[in-house]
Parts: sequence; C-alpha cells; structure tokens
Amino acid sequence: MKTSSHAVARMVGDWRDGPGPAHQRLSDRLRLLVLDGRLSLGAAVPSERDLAAVLGTSRTTVGAAYRTLVEQGYLTTRARARATVRLPHDAPPERPTGPDADTIDLSFAAPPAPAGILHAAFAAALERLPLHFERHGYDRYGIAELREAVAGWYQRRGLPTAPDHIMVTNGAQHALGLLARTLLAPRDRVLIDHPTYPHAIRTFTEARARLLPVPLGASGWDPEQLHAAGRAAQLAYLIPDFHNPTGMCMSGSVRHRLRLACPTVIDETMADLALDGTKPEPFALHMPTAISVGSVSKSVWGGLRIGWIRAVPALLQRLEQARPATDLGTPVLEQLAAAHLLTTHQTERPDTLRRLRSRCDALRQALAEHLPDVQAPPPAGGITLWAAFPEPVSSRLAAIAPDHGVTIAAGPRFGIGGAFERHIRLPYTLPSDRLTEAVRRLAQARQALTRGATGSHTPAPVA
Ligand SMILES: Cc1ncc(COP(=O)(O)O)c(C=O)c1O
Repeated sequence: MKTSSHAVARMVGDWRDGPGPAHQRLSDRLRLLVLDGRLSLGAAVPSERDLAAVLGTSRTTVGAAYRTLVEQGYLTTRARARATVRLPHDAPPERPTGPDADTIDLSFAAPPAPAGILHAAFAAALERLPLHFERHGYDRYGIAELREAVAGWYQRRGLPTAPDHIMVTNGAQHALGLLARTLLAPRDRVLIDHPTYPHAIRTFTEARARLLPVPLGASGWDPEQLHAAGRAAQLAYLIPDFHNPTGMCMSGSVRHRLRLACPTVIDETMADLALDGTKPEPFALHMPTAISVGSVSKSVWGGLRIGWIRAVPALLQRLEQARPATDLGTPVLEQLAAAHLLTTHQTERPDTLRRLRSRCDALRQALAEHLPDVQAPPPAGGITLWAAFPEPVSSRLAAIAPDHGVTIAAGPRFGIGGAFERHIRLPYTLPSDRLTEAVRRLAQARQALTRGATGSHTPAPVA
C-alpha cells in the first residue's frame, strides 16, 4: 500500500510552525501521524523527491526527516524500494503507565456506571430471563420487550413508532457498521459533519466510501452546504442531537428546512442529554425517511452495549439478512436490563443532567483559570467540550499529556485531512475535582511543549 505525497502533505498540515530546524519539525509531524494511526503500518511513504515537491521544501529536508524516522524505528528501508511505516520494537505502551498511576483519562467520553440503577435493572432482568429459556435466544431483531421499550422512548418524544420499526444492536457503533455494510458500495460518497465521531469516520472509510465533510460552523449546521453535499452523496450521517465532539444541537429551523436527497442516518446517542433539559424534536418528525440510531451508552452506561436502529421494516429486513456475517444477536439479559431502564425512564434522569451541568461548569472554569487562551464554547448537551487552542498543538499535546498524568483525544481524530490540529475534545463525565486537576496537568503539558519537549505516547482509545 502506498500513501500519496498529496495525502501525506494534507495530513502533516502546517508543519513549518514551531521551534527547531525544518527537518526535525517534519519528522516530528510524520512520527505523530504514525503514532496516531493516520499513516498505516506497512504503508510505503512517498519518495523524498515527490514529498519535497508537494511540501514546497528541499529534498535534503525530507531526506533528513526520513533518516531521523529510520533511526527512531518509525520507517524501514530496503534497497530500491520505498521506505515503509513501522513502529519501533520498543514502541511506547498503548496506554500510559509509569509512576503516575492515577492518570486521568479524558480520551473516553463516557460516564461511569450508576451502580444502584444498574443493579435494579439487572435484578428485574434476571426475574424475566426464564421467560426466554424455552426459545433459542438468537434474535436478530432483538427481544420484543426491548423493541417495545425503544418504540415507547420515541413515542414519549412525540414520534409515533411501532416495535417493528426497531432493531436492537450491540451499541450505536454496531448499528452504524451494519448500516454501512448494507447501504454502501465502494467509492460511494458519505456526507459527514466535520468534525464528527471518530469511529464513524473509520466505519465509512473501511466500507471504502469517500467522505464529504460539511463544516460545522460556530453557529452550527449550514443547510445550503448540507443540501449541496446531499445531492452528491449516497448516504449522510449527522449527529444533530448533541453533536460529538462539539455538544451542539441542530436548531429547529434547520431541522424544518433540511431535505437531504440521499438516505440519512441520524445518530441520537446523546439525545437524552440536553443540559438545560429541553429536548429537541426527533429528527425523523421532520424527515420521515431518516434512519435513526440510538444507544443507552451515554445516558446510562457503555458497558451494557445496547443500541438500536429505527427504520422502515423493509430496511430492517435487509439489515437482518446482513447481520449474521458479523454477529447473531444481542445478549438477552442485557436487553432485558435495557428494557427496564427505558420503561422506567432511567435514560432521562434529571439528576444525571444536574451532575453533567455542574461538571461542565467546573471544566470550563478550570480552563478559564489554567488555560485562559483556550476557547471552549458552552455545549447545548452531550458530554464533551470542543476546546480550541490558539496554536496547532493538538497531536503533540496528546502525545505528551500522559507524561503529565492525563490522556486526551486530539482534534484530528474527529476529522479528515489533518483538520482540527488546534482542537481537543474534553469530556465532563468525571467528578469536578478530577476535571480541574486534569486541566492543571494539561496546562503543564502545554508548557513543556512550549519549552521544546516532545512526547511519544500512542493515542489512547476513544469512544
Ligand atoms: C455520536 C456517537 N455515536 C455512537 C457512539 C457509539 O456508541 P455505542 O457505545 O452505543 O456503540 C458514540 C460513542 O461515543 C457516539 O458519541
């Protein structure tokens, strides 16, 4: 596999910024791309001459950068062949380890489990489980109890829904994968919000689709741009109800106006997490053909691995036929527990929202105190802030932050083409004092970068 010089140039972005000689800045950028998984292991890098031409620099600079990467173990060379990407044998650990055992994990945007609520849900589920013992337990649409409970969740939000419009999945990510496999052909174009949820980018890229990113501006979604991209796309994927990572909510007026020409997947994973308690109307009220994807992962707990798809029965039938290639259904006990959570409205708890509001305030206050030049607009909902630095520091900060006891998700993971190098995503699911401490550590990490230090931690997993 070869990576073109233009693709590498797009990914390295503004590599000329920063201290030190040009070849060192370039090798730093390339090393971060390897560590971040954006330059795939085994991929051949462009020739020195091609990359120098596209970057508008000398061949000597690119040659010196490549030599540094060979010395550090990130490139391997063979006679008369392109250098290929590798990791050093003593590659840094995937997860930060070391003396600081209390590293604060800000890379996952996911709440801890509400213990009492989950115990009660599983106790109720265990009572009902024997009712399922006479059947085989393989149910590709999900059990009737949960399909009814999910339909009820939509009905409470004002969207008439019957259980046969629901397929239960192993989380929203599984739902996205199933939809991508069923609806996309190689080279199809997929409209995405930009930024968007990283695993969605991965899902569509692995389906060999081409991405059509539509920027999410400071005031949200732009219907003109969405309509234009929608005409060129075979599928659209939007997160209007508390967007990951920005926490924005699509306005009612945009929802009313939006009529995309292609099938549209609406990710409602965060729909229950309106910080001021005002829930948006379900998108499918305005666009009845929309395919909705939901989950209890953010409103209750990701460890349940329960999500769903709301769509017309004809599409669910196609999904049901495609499903056995990867899985044969969702565990019954977890489905029963999720049904209990939904029917008792545990995904819509006012105390969850109160806690998130106060943690979000604490995080923004800590930013104002320790990183005053970082902009983090208040989110409408969800569980994350999208923080912008004045300088393009994100990947380097993510690579050094574990040395200071904190992990973060760098901005470029939420986009394509090396975008968002000034941004990081900060979840506010931890207790306020941990968030404040995490920001203090991030400020230290940034100071270390300013002094010329570099980090080499591989990116932490995200959700
Ligand atoms: C927008 C969005 N969609 C989907 C998912 C995946 O959720 P699940 O845990 O239900 O697979 C996430 C998780 O972070 C998310 O933020």
